Amino acid sequence: MLMLKVLKTFTTAAQFQCKRALCASGAMSHSKYEYVRQYESDDKLLPNCWIVIRIDGKAFHKFSDVHQFQKPNDKPALDLMNRCAERVLDQFRDVLLAYGQSDEYSFVFRKDTVLYNRRASKLMTNIVSQFGSSYVFYWKDFFPEKQLKFPPVFDARAVLYPTNLTLRDYLSWRQVDCHINNLYNTTFWNLVLKGGLTNQQAQEKLKGTFAADKNEILFSQFGINYNNERDQFKKGTTIYRERVEVPMENGQIKIRSKITATHCDIIGDGFWEDHTYLLDPYKDA
Ligand code: GTP
Ligand code: MG
Repeated sequence: MLMLKVLKTFTTAAQFQCKRALCASGAMSHSKYEYVRQYESDDKLLPNCWIVIRIDGKAFHKFSDVHQFQKPNDKPALDLMNRCAERVLDQFRDVLLAYGQSDEYSFVFRKDTVLYNRRASKLMTNIVSQFGSSYVFYWKDFFPEKQLKFPPVFDARAVLYPTNLTLRDYLSWRQVDCHINNLYNTTFWNLVLKGGLTNQQAQEKLKGTFAADKNEILFSQFGINYNNERDQFKKGTTIYRERVEVPMENGQIKIRSKITATHCDIIGDGFWEDHTYLLDPYKDA
């Protein structure tokens, strides 16, 4: 009330500017419609948990066909996904690691992030929007000869992991998924594209087979040693903030972080032992 009285006395242009500023500052939020704010749900994510935002291409089986991506792996397409993920890490400093394969990427936020007050919708939409616009923005760098035929769409979800173990199991799950799908797809598309089988015949042939059987088909029929396939295809891509030591002019060493991509195994302990600074500060009690 006091604020309204003060504002009513403002009449000059300068005073009008002052009134606008007061409104913008929230001091004047007295509209009768204000109550609708209460309908917004609070989606603040639990504290002290790892936040993973996973984005996934919508109907990318169609997107890949229309853009004639190589089967089963199109290197430029996967490199473009990696470029977009690097952009996300570059723009969101609280993302300490990302893992991607096929048309999906998982972004791991620091356990103690307070970005957007940990609101799920803000985190998801900002990440997925940054990723999607980057995909379009960088397209021509990876496909200079190919026109983008329609705008790609990505969905996003937020998942919480309470411990370092559950976070690592999550990342292992995604990498195992990459391995299983890639072995299947590599065998399937060799049977179709080189072996002359129809999609249905290849599907039938692979029904009930184990990894060893697929390795054998690849080797005996197509001379392919699956182990020699690109790590990027077999293991996906992990992007993280690497700690690098930078020597300074005064002889001292400065620690800087550098966004680095690797296609290594993240299921075993090796990667985590080599990069203890990623998870160790958040060791489970
Ligand atoms: P939704 O995610 O449910 O909307 O469906 P989706 O069609 O995107 O399927 P999903 O995310 O389960 O799988 C990703 C699909 O993208 C694969 O099945 C492939 O069809 C396609 N894809 C991803 N990467 C490549 C690639 O490098 N080459 C080709 N040819 N296709 C790819
Ligand atoms: Mg998809």
